[in-house]
Amino acid sequence: MSFLRNCWYMAAWKDEIQDKPLGRQIIGEHIVFFRRSTGDVVALSGRCSHRFAPLHLGKIIDDAIECPYHGLRYNGEGACVLNPQGNGATPRSVRQTVYPLIERYGGYWIWMGDPDRADPTLLPDYYFLEDPRFNYVSGYIHSASNYELMTDNILDLGHVDFLHAGTLGCEATVRAKTDVRQIGDRVECDRWMANEVQSPVINYIFRREGRVDAWLDVRWEPPGLMMLTVGVTDVGASREAGAAIENVHLMTPETEDSTHYFWANARDFQLNDEEFDRNLYESATAAFTLEDKPMIEAQQRMMGTNDLFSLKPALLPGDAAGVMARRTLAKLIKQESERDHAG
Ligand code: FES
Ligand SMILES: [Fe+2]
Repeated sequence: MSFLRNCWYMAAWKDEIQDKPLGRQIIGEHIVFFRRSTGDVVALSGRCSHRFAPLHLGKIIDDAIECPYHGLRYNGEGACVLNPQGNGATPRSVRQTVYPLIERYGGYWIWMGDPDRADPTLLPDYYFLEDPRFNYVSGYIHSASNYELMTDNILDLGHVDFLHAGTLGCEATVRAKTDVRQIGDRVECDRWMANEVQSPVINYIFRREGRVDAWLDVRWEPPGLMMLTVGVTDVGASREAGAAIENVHLMTPETEDSTHYFWANARDFQLNDEEFDRNLYESATAAFTLEDKPMIEAQQRMMGTNDLFSLKPALLPGDAAGVMARRTLAKLIKQESERDHAG
């Protein structure tokens, strides 16, 4: 399998990189992240160019990272600035690749392709993770499954009534009126539930009970970036008269069959309420860790290393958005590899 390279991948939440280096594999490549004394974070290839020791197990000294094996030291530009061995020479071949990295939306985003094409304006707009009118809770989950299975999971929310019965699920999601559309390389999937009783978690978040109108709108952008708006209003009232929360579900491939899953859920009401934060964090973590993750990992084990379409899956209407996203991503990966071969 190949991955899209010329795009931003979410690499870490800000609080994951403090005074110690972080080692993380992204699209199969080992990366080390470390913070310099100026406060900025840099991303270098994580295997030492000498004998491939893991640099993230080393120490940060004078804004450089020291390899824990033979002590070579690399600065944030990837150059070897110290060789404690022998004559101390630092040949130019002794260096680490540097990856473009930017800080946005409470985290770090890495560009795995041509550094000259790393354009911050290509990031999606998740303003609610930066706007002081919003509070958000966030988490990170590692999953032993391919990232496209994780994407399918969010693009087909018909699963919530079964997999999350009694928490995020109700009986209405499967009956929702669903609209799927493609706009350029983006896929949108809107679910509308009129005059239905919503799940216990939705009722708790929005302080509701009984029948309401509700919506679940997902926006997918390549490679695996999703924004989900969950809203509720009185039956027959406008959306503006109701309330909504904005969620992100960001899937970064670690390898072909493992994924870094970053999620956040943001609101512009019930601000500065720690108990509410804790409850939102715990209900999301429980659903994603105890319900989605084991199911998708089990699904991956059942599929083995087979590509989804090679297994000829039965296609249901709820799969439309996931299939559109998969086709779009496959097209972009193909275009990228054709361009690389031509250039
Ligand atoms: S492996 Fe890093 S210095 Fe030898
Ligand atoms: Fe789920």
